[in-house]
Order: sequence, then structure tokens, then C-alpha cells
Amino acid sequence: MAGTKGLLLIYLVYVCCFKSMVCSSFSPLDGFFIDCGGNRTLKLEDGRVFEPDYGNADVGFSPTSHVVVLETDMDSSNESNDLGVYNSARVFTVASNYTFSTKEIGHHWLRLHFYPVENPHYNLTNAVFSVVSDGIRLLHEFSYSKFGKSSRLLKEYIIDVGASSLKDLVLTLSPVNGSVAFINGIEVVSVPNGLFGSKVIPVPLGTAVDMPTNVAFEMAYRINMGGPLLTPKNDTLWRTWEPDKPYLANPAAAHNVSANPGVIEYSAGVLAEAAPKWVYATAQEMANANVTDQKFNISWFFEVDQNFTYLVRFHFCDIVSVAPHSLIFNVYINNQSALNSFDISTKTMELSAAYFIDFLVNASVGSNQMLVQIGPSVLRNFPPNAILNGLEIIKISNPSDSLDGDFHAISIYPKSLKIKKWMPLAILSCLGSFALLLICLAVFFLCLHRSKKPKHQPSAWLSLPTQIGVSETKISTGSFASTAQSLGLGRILAFLEIREATNNFDESLVLGVGGFGKVYRGVLDNGVVVAVKRGNPRSQQGLTEFKTEIEMLSKLRHRHLVSLIGYCGELNEMILVYEFMASGPLRKHLYDSNLPPLTWKQRLEICIGAAKGLHYLHTGAAESIIHRDVKTTNILLDENLNAKVADFGLSKSGPTLEQTHVSTAVKGSFGYLDPEYFRRQQLTEKSDVYSFGVVLMEVLCARPAINPALPREQVNLAEWAMCWQKRGRLDQIMDPHLMGSANVESLRKFGETAEKCLAEQGVERPTMGDVLWNLEYALQLQETSIQTVADENSANYIPDIPDWSPQIEPADGDDAGTISNKESDAATSSLFSQLMDPKGR
Ligand SMILES: *[C@@H]1O[C@H](CO)[C@@H](O)[C@H](O)[C@H]1NC(C)=O
Ligand SMILES: *[C@@H]1O[C@H](CO)[C@@H](O)[C@H](O)[C@H]1NC(C)=O
Ligand SMILES: *[C@@H]1O[C@H](CO)[C@@H](O)[C@H](O)[C@H]1NC(C)=O
Ligand SMILES: *[C@@H]1O[C@H](CO)[C@@H](O)[C@H](O)[C@H]1NC(C)=O
Ligand SMILES: *[C@@H]1O[C@H](CO)[C@@H](O)[C@H](O)[C@H]1NC(C)=O
Repeated sequence: MAGTKGLLLIYLVYVCCFKSMVCSSFSPLDGFFIDCGGNRTLKLEDGRVFEPDYGNADVGFSPTSHVVVLETDMDSSNESNDLGVYNSARVFTVASNYTFSTKEIGHHWLRLHFYPVENPHYNLTNAVFSVVSDGIRLLHEFSYSKFGKSSRLLKEYIIDVGASSLKDLVLTLSPVNGSVAFINGIEVVSVPNGLFGSKVIPVPLGTAVDMPTNVAFEMAYRINMGGPLLTPKNDTLWRTWEPDKPYLANPAAAHNVSANPGVIEYSAGVLAEAAPKWVYATAQEMANANVTDQKFNISWFFEVDQNFTYLVRFHFCDIVSVAPHSLIFNVYINNQSALNSFDISTKTMELSAAYFIDFLVNASVGSNQMLVQIGPSVLRNFPPNAILNGLEIIKISNPSDSLDGDFHAISIYPKSLKIKKWMPLAILSCLGSFALLLICLAVFFLCLHRSKKPKHQPSAWLSLPTQIGVSETKISTGSFASTAQSLGLGRILAFLEIREATNNFDESLVLGVGGFGKVYRGVLDNGVVVAVKRGNPRSQQGLTEFKTEIEMLSKLRHRHLVSLIGYCGELNEMILVYEFMASGPLRKHLYDSNLPPLTWKQRLEICIGAAKGLHYLHTGAAESIIHRDVKTTNILLDENLNAKVADFGLSKSGPTLEQTHVSTAVKGSFGYLDPEYFRRQQLTEKSDVYSFGVVLMEVLCARPAINPALPREQVNLAEWAMCWQKRGRLDQIMDPHLMGSANVESLRKFGETAEKCLAEQGVERPTMGDVLWNLEYALQLQETSIQTVADENSANYIPDIPDWSPQIEPADGDDAGTISNKESDAATSSLFSQLMDPKGR
């Protein structure tokens, strides 16, 4: 019930957010367009209307100025020409202000237009001047002679006007020693609320930090990857987006792609003003993206100022994939990982949906060039490709409130407070007492915590040996576990590490939500991709499951069981960190997704893997363990589709030698529950066998164990499939994708195995070892495509003890093709009766 309520709430919040987002289509409250020195209204095609500065009620400026006008008016005939603003300039001989009475608090775009108009009075090319706004130095001793060319220049800034109370925006132009200052045009436009997110991710990767406040920004680059130049005509906010060609390091590596802009959607939380659809509708992807073995990055170089920190915004929109979750790639800034195995679909939930993400980059780490790269993920199983749709590189003012000039300190990360001269002392003393208080509190809680916890409580990260599996993602957990231990800070470091690995539990990294809590994808600082399961701290049941899972997985190690990399029991946290299973749960590959259907052989191999895991659980460890929650969502697949059993939160130690069963309250998942266990509340390994039988049927029929939408007799897969199996016509309800490719005998063997698993009485069901053997046999039948099996040879197939590791050799007499089906049935059923014989085991 609580779950449904939660869902409803989430839905309501979502609807509200979405509605408000849709309704508030942006029209800037503040919009000043000033043609400095002009004497008529200038209407541009893109909708902007520039008014002369002189006699303008909204704008104040010092009268000690002169107007210069281009002698040969470029386009006096064409009023709408956007070059009009460059025809005149206002020239100042002393420091002077422009004052704009803004109506809105917050970020404003400030666009300054410069052009050294040729005129008989002043040599503007040699003019040297500085520009300051809102206490931020925008230009320091700027001169066209230093700039190099006398072309039109547009400088674009973002200024925070009156962080708390409304105030005027003041722009000050100060000529340097006897020179003059000039300006041709000024725009002041409100930035839509929400265009700046609240969090940014630092590179090199760390925990997301707050978007710096009390700073000004300067637009350094705004790039439309793989697309044409977008002018203010194409952007409702009059921005310009350049093509990326001039910045591409290796043009041959990139290939431009485009989609119809009409299909682009803005995903929840992404304003339509983030970037025009034209930006998202084009991208650069990897050239020859169909070559499977390609391994290279697409690289762009951008000139930056080494002394500054930059905000780098990546715009993504998957316009190249045919299905979600099939494009996974890496993003680097200055050779540092920014996004590792990034999947746009996890953020947008659909294709052709716009998404952007911000990073904070300290340029001094690199050089005066910023290197931006995208490249394929190392995760196999995904076609190597990578895309980028748009990029914005934004300079952040340094701690000395400058956006220009190397005359001040290098900023590490932008300060969050503007520190006035008298403030350091006050802050220091405040901080001092605060720190003291914190220490006292920490000591207090630590003591409280210690005394409450029983001694056997896990104290730090569990350092487990690495798995011995075949998985490509085999990893060493030694490095971080041992640093944690050697520092003697296991707990604290561990939690910080998890928080960083998951971008502070970024909602967008959520892989799934289960009864226990949310599962996030994370990247540890050694680059290892992990799945992080964070329990709900207030759930008492969760605590039991948390402990069970750690206890179970500490005892267990098998290549068909998901490995626990570590856990964190700090304070109220219950966090489990597992190896990342790139291909997700088996269920997703069977139905209700866009993933390609699995072949019969793949399905058999997956079932065999899962059966090996369960067989090991039942027999491999010192005491038998009953999983109790076997289902297709608890069988996970790695990037090579190797199956591993997961989720041991409900597991129980099996009956000991004296007992035949364990009495317990019934737990598990509807649709997979052993009816005998349900009736008698007695748990044996055979309950897992029953659930596994349901899994087998699900794999064969590609439908859920319970589907309430179907006619009543079909709702429960186990019952429905058994009806057909008993009539020998399981093929009637099997997944149509298997038609033709699956071997009939293999299917028959599989059906029989599932049938035995689903037997009403536990004692009638085979052990997992038997199930395994039968599945391997079904795989053998599929691989060798033997149509029938000779009765006299059948003995060769049956080892004394079902042995699940060696390959089963095909019969030596390969003359089998002539034997009739009847005989083969007899053979397999006699085989089964032998397997069922309890005295064997
Ligand atoms: C201002 O108006 C005069 C005549 O009306 C014209 O000659 C001059 O070029 C105008 N100046 C500008 C900047 O357009
Ligand atoms: C896209 O690529 C084609 C062929 O290489 C080229 O002709 C075209 O100009 C490119 N488009 C853009 C916008 O760069
Ligand atoms: C941008 O606007 C101009 C003028 O309206 C138009 O010709 C051009 O096709 C537009 N470009 C795009 C990519 O929409
Ligand atoms: C891509 O660039 C990153 C960072 O510069 C580098 O570590 C990685 O090896 C590159 N990948 C390929 C496939 O070249
Ligand atoms: C990135 O790596 C390349 C090759 O290793 C090197 O030439 C370049 O200087 C590095 N760039 C930065 C910004 O570290």
C-alpha cells in the first residue's frame, strides 16, 4: 500500500512539475536592446528592437560623451539589417556608466557589441579601456589593437543582478590614461529561471557541488555539434551557436548526423530554452560507427584562459539509436573522465529527448587548450559509438571578481561567498566555534553509536577476494578497501567513496528500485563500475535483509552468484556494493522491452548459469542455503550475457541433517511461490526448484509469471504452461521468436525439465543438480542438432552422479537419425525416472 501511495505521490509531483514547465513558456521580463549613439529604432528580423540610448527612459548614461557614426552608412536603405547596431558608437573620454532599471532579480545576459567605427574624430582601433559591471571586471585594458582584427565583436556575459534584492544593473566603461572608451550596442535580457542547474560535477570527478553563486560568467563557446551555424534568428533567446568543424582535432573521426527537429522532445527537468531543437537534432558521432572493433575518441580543442575555472555544459540527445540503452559511451575533459559508460536513455527514458549536464573544469590543470573527447565505452555488448549534440564552455569569474586578466590568483574552485575585506575575521571566528560544536556532536554520536551496536556488527568495508569468474569486468577491490583500512578511516571513507561514486546518489543514476531501496550505478575512483544498493534506513525489515545478504554473500563466492564488492553500515546507512551487471535482469531480455530477443542457445546458457548458481547455493557451501526469491528479475546478466543469481536478502540456511525442512513465515514473490511451501510453511531447497521451474517457463514463453490482464485460466504462467505441457503442446504458447531456430528435441527436454520442477510435491521435483544436468543435455541437443537419441546409447548420457561441469559428449554411434520419436520419448522419460531415483543422492 505504502508503495502505491509513494508511486501516486511521485506521479503527482511529476505531473505538477511537467504542467508548470509546459505552461511557463519563456518571455523575458527584462529585455533592453540599446543601439549606442543611434538615432532611430532598429527592428531586426529576429524580433529584437534596438532603441537609441539617447532619450531612452529605461536607460541612464553619463552625458559626457560623443557619438561617432560611420560616414558611409552601411545599410541606410535596409532598416532590418542586424549590422545596423555597428553603424554608430558612443565614445567616452572619462569613466561613465550605463544604468539599466531591471525588473527582475537573478541572472541576466549582458551582450556587448563592439566595432571600431571609422570616423574623423577618434582612432577607436587604438582605444584602450576597461569594462566593469556589478563589481565584476569584464574587460581589462581591452584594445582592438591587441585583439588583432578590426571586426565586429560580441562579448556575452551572465550577470547576477541583485542576488537578494532588486537593484539596477550598472555598466561602467573606463578609458585608460587619456584614451577613450566606446561601445556600439548593449543587450540586457533575463535568463530563464532554471536554465542554470543547482549542481555541477567537478572534473577530475568528485561529488557534485553547488553551482557557484555570486560570480559572473562569460560565454566562451557555444557549439552546435555536427550542425550548421545557428543565428539569433534560430534561437528564441537570440543566442548564436557555431559549427564545431574549426575545433575538431581529427575531422575524419567524426561523422555528422541529423534528425528532424520536430521529433525532439525536452525531457522532464530540461527547459525548452536550454538549447533550440536544432542543436539537439544534429550531432557528431563516431565515423564508421558500424565497424565493431573501432577504438578511438573524437576530440575537440578549445582555447581557454588557464587562470580560470570553466563551466562546461554537454547537450545530448540520442538521435542515432534504434532502441534505448543501446548507446553507451565515455566523455573526457582534459584527458580526465567526466562521464563513464554514460547511457543517455537512463536520463531521458526515451530516444530523441534532450538532456544536458554540467561540469566544473579548472583550466589550470590542463593548458591553454581545453580538450573535450567522446569515445566508446569499454563495456562490450554495445556497438561502439559516441555522440555529442551541443557544447557550451562558460568562463567563471575568479575570486578577485575578474573575467579578464591574469593579474590575480588562480582559482581552484569558485568560492561560494563573496568575501569582503572585513569578513575573513568574522568568518574565521564563526567557523571556529562551529567546528568545535561539530566535533563535540561527532564525539557524542560516535559514543552513542558504539554503545548501541552489537559487537558482531560489520565495522567497515568488507574486503573480499576478487571473483574467479570469466567476466570481463573482473576487478580488483583491493585498492580502495586497503586504502580505507590503512587510513583507519574505513567507515567514513567508505561512505564518501560511495557518495562520490554515485554523484551523491544522483537520481539519474538509479538503475532500479526494489523492496529494499534504490539501486544506483556508480563508478569507483579506480574506474570500476558498480551497482550500489542503498537501503531505506527506516525499514526494520530492511535491516534484517541487509544483514542476511552480507552474511550470505560473505560465505559465498561463485561465478554464477553476483559478487558483493563491499558494504557500508555507517550510522543509519545500509549500502551494498555489487559488481555491475551491464545487461541487467533476465526479465528485461524476455519481454516488455525493446531489447532484441535472445536466441534459444542464449536462453539455455543463461538458464544453465542460473542453475549452476542455485546448485552451488544448495550444495556448495558448508550449509545448504535456500534462496527463497528465485525469479527472472533476480537473475542478472553481465555484458557477455553470463547469468548470475542476485538478491539474497530473503535467503535462509537450509535444513540441517536432522531436519527435513525449515519452518518459516512465507516470503517470496507472487507467481513463483512453491504451493507446498505456501500451504505447509515448510521450506526446503525444492521451493527454489519450483520457482526455477516458473523461470524456465518464462524463458520459454516470454511472458510474466503473473499477468492479470489475461483471461483467468492464463493469468498464472505455471498453471497455464503445465496444461499445455501435459498435452505435449508447449510449443503452442512458446515465444514465437524461437520458431524454427530452436531444436524440437531440445525444446521438449526443456519443457519436461520445467514440468518436473513444477511438480506439486517437493519430493517429486528434481534437485538443482538434476535440473542442471537436464538443461545441459537440452543445450547439447540444440548444439549438435541430434534429432533423436538411440535407446541403447542413452546410458552413455547418464553419468553416475549428475556432473554439471564437464561437457556431455554426444553418443558415439551417430546413426541416430532413424529412430522414431516414440522411442526417444521412452528414452528420455526412463532417463528422468533414473534421475528422480532418490537413492542415487
Ligand atoms: C541620424 O540622423 C541623421 C539625419 O536624420 C542621419 O544623417 C544620421 O546618419 C543618423 N545617424 C545615425 C547613427 O543613424
Ligand atoms: C555533414 O557532412 C557532410 C559530408 O561530410 C558535409 O557535406 C556537410 O557539410 C556536413 N554538415 C555540417 C553541418 O557540417
Ligand atoms: C535559421 O534561420 C534562418 C532565417 O530564418 C533560416 O534561413 C535557416 O534555415 C534557419 N536555420 C535553421 C537550422 O533552422
Ligand atoms: C580517449 O581519451 C581518454 C582521455 O584522453 C583516454 O584515456 C582513452 O584511452 C581514449 N580512448 C581511446 C579509445 O583512445
Ligand atoms: C592529454 O593527453 C595527450 C596525450 O597523452 C597529451 O598530449 C595532452 O597534453 C594531454 N592534455 C591535457 C590537457 O592534459
